[in-house]
Order: sequence, then structure tokens, then C-alpha cells
Amino acid sequence: MNLLVIGGGGREHTIIKKLKQNPSVETIYALPGNGGIAADATCVDVKATDVEGIVAFTKTVKIDYAVVAPDDPLVLGCVDALEAEAIPCFGPRANAAIIEGSKVFSKDLMKKYGIPTATYEVFSDPKQALDYLETAPIPTVVKADGLALGKGVTVAMTREEAQGAVREIMEDKKFGKSGDRIVIEEYLEGPEVSVLAFTDGTAVKPMVSSMDHKRAGDGDRGPNTGGMGTVAPNPFYTEDVAKTCMETIFLPTIRAMKAEGREFRGCLYFGLMITKDGPKVIEYNCRFGDPETQVVLPLLESDLLTVMQAVTNGTLADCEVKFKDAHACCVVLASKGYPLSYEKGYEITIPADVQEHVYVAGAKLADGKLVTSGGRVLGVTAVAETLPEAVKGAYAMADRIEFGNKYCRRDIGQRALSVLR
Ligand code: AMP
Ligand code: GLY
Repeated sequence: MNLLVIGGGGREHTIIKKLKQNPSVETIYALPGNGGIAADATCVDVKATDVEGIVAFTKTVKIDYAVVAPDDPLVLGCVDALEAEAIPCFGPRANAAIIEGSKVFSKDLMKKYGIPTATYEVFSDPKQALDYLETAPIPTVVKADGLALGKGVTVAMTREEAQGAVREIMEDKKFGKSGDRIVIEEYLEGPEVSVLAFTDGTAVKPMVSSMDHKRAGDGDRGPNTGGMGTVAPNPFYTEDVAKTCMETIFLPTIRAMKAEGREFRGCLYFGLMITKDGPKVIEYNCRFGDPETQVVLPLLESDLLTVMQAVTNGTLADCEVKFKDAHACCVVLASKGYPLSYEKGYEITIPADVQEHVYVAGAKLADGKLVTSGGRVLGVTAVAETLPEAVKGAYAMADRIEFGNKYCRRDIGQRALSVLR
């Protein structure tokens, strides 16, 4: 089989490495892929958001199955466009990807179907939003309605900060049209858990839970990033919590989308907060998380392509989705200065025995050498029987990978370990 994978980050590299384990896979085309992915797939220089270019490419080679991984092409209707060419796809159509594409949509969906989430107000006029903030409870959370490269959320500890966020989003149009509307919502407290789930629109099979580390610095300090590391499973996600989530969040969400005529097929990402009143939804994403995928898929025992095809065919209920009884830790190696300004172009050296555990995000090939080209350069994942061993293993490998201005957090997994102790 020839596969197409849309995207070019660490998540896509993980998906590709896992898909390759299926013996029927011949060639994987990655659009656009990256310098590291090039070791495992044929990279083609077409942007993930260039839906027309993607469709045009599929007319030049035979593609048997496609996986659309990032949010923007999903929201833009990449799956719809590929299906129109009779290419079976993994990923939701645009009318279902809206669950991530519009926070107003997802909040209204949760309200309508009684799915637990933070209480909220929607505004399309900045003046009304600012008036509301005069007396709103603080802390509060301000969210741009549309996609904003993961930067559209401000958790405001003061009134001034919340007002500043409203002005930036609605008046300065920091995220363009994504800020035409905003959600202002209740501040929730509790540990966060990410749960990715396979769903074919009717059945839902949650993957092993995980924990992201979003801040740039140790001790969860510094600016927000795309994620500096992950562990799986997440110790806050107990069996009781999992059961509650299935009953009050996962199944109700899948049923709600179906009832709205927006059947969701693909990977639905539940960003959850385990509050003292039970688990609540912080956000939905219409895709695999990054870098959650880098710890979740290495623990998947079942064949990924088989599971994905069951999702596409609507036969997930009959498909086994099995995870190893083990722990994974992914440490992200970034360029020093990320997520603000950083230098790039440094050669990366990865010991041969570490290579298979590395998922490359921001690197390109220059004169046959792998060099840094982004903020998050790569992730390295260790799988072990216990979490302490997984953490130790990931850092041991991370310390043997070299490139100029290499930076990583040193405390990935410590929060999880403190629960287990
Ligand atoms: P998002 O960009 O939607 O992933 O949100 C970024 C982060 O903001 C989340 O991971 C949470 O840590 C935080 N956040 C979002 N919504 C809330 C909320 N209602 N209360 C507290 N923190 C929140
Ligand atoms: N790691 C968070 C996300 O993928 O949105």
C-alpha cells in the first residue's frame, strides 16, 4: 500500500514510524514532512495547508490511504477534498473538525448536551466584553474563537490581563479573523489530563492517557510552548476518572456530534481538567496531540493502520485497540530561546542506537546533514516498565543527542512521579 501523511512535525514522524510497522505498507509520502522524517518517508514539498496542492499530488501517484494529522488542513476540509478523489482518509471532515476550529461551537455543543465544562460567555463586540470584565470573577480565561496556532488562550490572573487579552484579540486582531468572536470562561483548577480517542462516529476507544508539560521552563514556569515533554499514562487519570469520563464526556460528545449531523471520524483529543467537582472539558482538538502522540503511539500494541482503517470503515467496535502495560516519557529538545527567538542551522548528531526513539519536528537536510530549523527540534521517547525508568531512559538518550543551543526541561515527569510516590 502507498500511504499519504499530511503534516511535518514530531507527531507526524511518530505516526509514520508506527504505520511503517505494518508489512503491507510500501511507500509513505509525507507532505511536507521534514529532514528527519525523510529517513522514514518520501517527503514532498507541499504545505499541509495547501489542500489544492495535496489533491494535485495524489493525481501523480497512487495513494491507497491518507492520514491528515494537523488541525488547519482538517478545518480547511482536506479530508473532504481527498474523499472527493475516492481516497479513504483518517481524520474528520470539515463539518466535524469545527469542534476544534471554533471554541464557540464547542462550548455551545457542550452546553446543549450537558457535557461538563467551564461556564462561559461569548462576545463579538469588544466593548461588551470589556464591560463584562469590569465585574467578572477573576481569575478568568479569554479564548479566541478560531485557530490561533495554540496561542489563542489567556489564563488571566488579573482584570487588567483579561482586558489586555480582549484588546489584543478583538481590536489589534492578533489572530486575524479567529478573533472576531471570543469566549470568556470560568477559571478551573485541578490536574490536566490529555486523552486521545479513536472514534468512528459511533464507537469510541480511548488511548492511554497522557500529561503534557506546556511551559518552557522547569517547575512549569516561563512562557507557554507547543509542549516540552509528555508522559503516559497520566497518574491523575484513575480508573474511576476514566469511567466518569466515558459516561459524562466521551460518549455524550460522540453522540452529540452525530445528532448535529457532524459525525466525527478520526482521533478526538479531550483536554480535561480533573476538578474537585469531577472531570471537565478544557478543550477539544480534532487530531492527535503533539507531543502526546510521541508517548501514546509507542505504547500502542495493536497495528495502527488496522485501527485507522476500522475508524474510516465504521468498524471500530469490532477492532481491538490494545496498549502495552508500560510507561513512556518523551523529552523535547528545543533550540535555546524557544518559544521567543532562537538561532537555527546547527548540525544534529543522534547516536545510531537512539535513532529509532527519536521523532523529529524542526530539522531539515542541508548538504545531506540534519540541521536545526525550528524551535522544537525533536522529541526522544523511552518506554519502560515503570515511570521512573522511562524518565531516566528518555533523559539518558536526550543527553547523547547533540546540536548547537540545545535546550530541554529537566523535570519532565516529575509531577507525575510525585503522585506515584
Ligand atoms: P488551550 O490552548 O485551549 O490548550 O489552552 C491552553 C491552556 O490554558 C490549557 O492547557 C490550560 O492549562 C489552560 N486553560 C484553558 N482553559 C482553562 C480554564 N477554563 N481554566 C483554567 N485553565 C484553563
Ligand atoms: N499538546 C497539545 C496539543 O497538541 O494541542
